[in-house]
Amino acid sequence: MADPKTAKKGAGTGEPETASRVFSGMQPSGEAHLGNYLGALRQWVRLQDDHECFFCIVDQHAITGEFSPEELPARVFDLAVSFLAVGLDPERSTIFVQSDVAEHTELAWLLNAVAPVGELERMTQYKDKSARLESIPAGLLNYPILQAADILLYQATAVPVGEDQLQHLELTREIARRWNGRFGQLFPEPRPILSDAGRILGLDGNAKMSKSLGNTVGILAEPEQVWDRVRTAVTDPQRVRRDDPGRPEVCNVFSLHKHFTEPDRIPDIAGQCRAGTRGCVECKKILSDSIADHFAEARARAAELRDDPREVYRILEEGAERARQEARSTIRQVRERMGMDWASRRPD
Ligand code: TRP
Repeated sequence: MADPKTAKKGAGTGEPETASRVFSGMQPSGEAHLGNYLGALRQWVRLQDDHECFFCIVDQHAITGEFSPEELPARVFDLAVSFLAVGLDPERSTIFVQSDVAEHTELAWLLNAVAPVGELERMTQYKDKSARLESIPAGLLNYPILQAADILLYQATAVPVGEDQLQHLELTREIARRWNGRFGQLFPEPRPILSDAGRILGLDGNAKMSKSLGNTVGILAEPEQVWDRVRTAVTDPQRVRRDDPGRPEVCNVFSLHKHFTEPDRIPDIAGQCRAGTRGCVECKKILSDSIADHFAEARARAAELRDDPREVYRILEEGAERARQEARSTIRQVRERMGMDWASRRPD
């Protein structure tokens, strides 16, 4: 019998014995905001403790929506600073930019052989985004194929995602199954690790927090800037006058308190709101201070990195180099299985 203390996880259970490999990606929309942090980054930081992690800035996905070639490089850089500032650790994780590893697009193309158009057309994100457009770029439809390529290229087994990406992950699993069925087992079917944050609403209290909606608070904002943003937050609409009783359970400011304000202050904040003894402005001020305090260390780290941008470039270059090694090994096998290795069969 294997000693349970030293036996690897999954030993003898039919599960793979290797620790799970994590891949996740984020679009380069510049400095991260609270939604990015609560919905993803915070969890990515924790996953580093017991997983081999790949974290990717997916700039090639950005071209499927509105983007500016002039601004894209700065947005990639700023997101990288946010990654590092909150504690993604290049010593433990592979942190890189998608376009630095050409194999992502190569695999995406090869996966076209098995990716079903019907499924692509059924994706909610595709339906939502394409409905607003007169002319739909093919990239918008094919977006999940590139996402599948991101994940499968590293043979990742677990993918931390928000609720809204579960459908894309299910499609990734389907693509992996079909490819394995046709060309032989190679890709594990990655399982989702669902973020524990739920849906993080923007300051409008209405829509998901998102840069394009202008309802965000940047995680690296200075305390005054945090206040400038938080003071605009929408609270319980039924509370018109300061001493009206409020409903913390419907107030988005209160739900943010739960993430950033010390837990032992939360009952008081809810109680004063219900009793109408603390006004919304004051309540927001407390939230603003909590947020600014929470990210004080990250701000300091970001300032150091901005003073030394070469360090950020170095980290991303090293990350890309490490990612490329993995990517090359997978793509070599994919090419072989798909008959794209004719050159290696040249007779001597
Ligand atoms: N589509 C994801 C999002 O919008 C970003 C993404 C791209 C991703 N490739 C990925 C997430 C691979 C997880 C794994 O959030």
